[in-house]
Amino acid sequence: MSNQTSDTRHQASGIRHDGAPIGVFDSGYGGLTVLKEFVSRLPQYDYLYLGDNGRAPYGNRSFETVYEYTLQCVKWFFEQGCSLVILACNTASAKALRSIQQNDLPLIAPDKRVLGVIRPTTEIIGNYSESGEIGILATKGTVHSESYPIEIRKFFPETSVYQEACPMWVPIVENNEIHTQGANFFIKKNLHALFQKGPKIDVVLLACTHYPLLKDDIQEHLPIDVKLVTQGELVAHSLAGYLNRHPEIEQQCSKNGQQQFFTTDSTEDFDQHGSMFFGAPVKSRYLELR
Ligand code: DGL
Repeated sequence: MSNQTSDTRHQASGIRHDGAPIGVFDSGYGGLTVLKEFVSRLPQYDYLYLGDNGRAPYGNRSFETVYEYTLQCVKWFFEQGCSLVILACNTASAKALRSIQQNDLPLIAPDKRVLGVIRPTTEIIGNYSESGEIGILATKGTVHSESYPIEIRKFFPETSVYQEACPMWVPIVENNEIHTQGANFFIKKNLHALFQKGPKIDVVLLACTHYPLLKDDIQEHLPIDVKLVTQGELVAHSLAGYLNRHPEIEQQCSKNGQQQFFTTDSTEDFDQHGSMFFGAPVKSRYLELR
């Protein structure tokens, strides 16, 4: 764990919020690309962001580990008063969300809600494709969970879904190696492998919240007629709809237009890298999870 001054350390019990911010969770910085769209579309709400950078990346970890870490963070959000938590992480959405919704929530917080990023994406992505072939780029964990092919087929049964795991992309982004030769090498390699599987793919979805940072580099290597889709706006659109349909949750959400950021690793690193993902300055506090 990085060295922190005592004033940047906050234990779960020591944080105070007025009202209930919307919790936004990711293994690291990636969820900030989603939060950015929430703030742009729904600026009136308060948001509490937690990046579990100290234990990232989640992408190659087992189901059990991702579930355990995610549940621990969800409980932290609940302790802070959040009524609604968004897992702005595909890996956590794929590996932990269902268990948390079905097994944990009824026991620990039946009135609270935890939502993910996969459903809001899969219910709409088929509309972008004319060929009926969709490419998914994601972490190993998300790919192996098969969540995207399964969910997309529920909404668009005629669609063929091809996936490619890109295990180097999160480390490239987390280590700020974007726009380097190394990044380009892996982008080309993974795109080539995806199109070998589905040559008629006309929509490529970045199904990892870290990948939008690589968007320009990915776009350069894609055929001109292939659409590249990121999730932030889709998830923000879906959140707006959810809050409209669920006044009982919406009314609990505090509305001072504030954002607070927590990380389980170095706050200096988080603030430096986080602002790139968020597109605005970020000032984080350290959280020690026990
Ligand atoms: N940002 C996460 C996602 O969307 C993955 C990052 C990680 O591997 O920790 O899948």
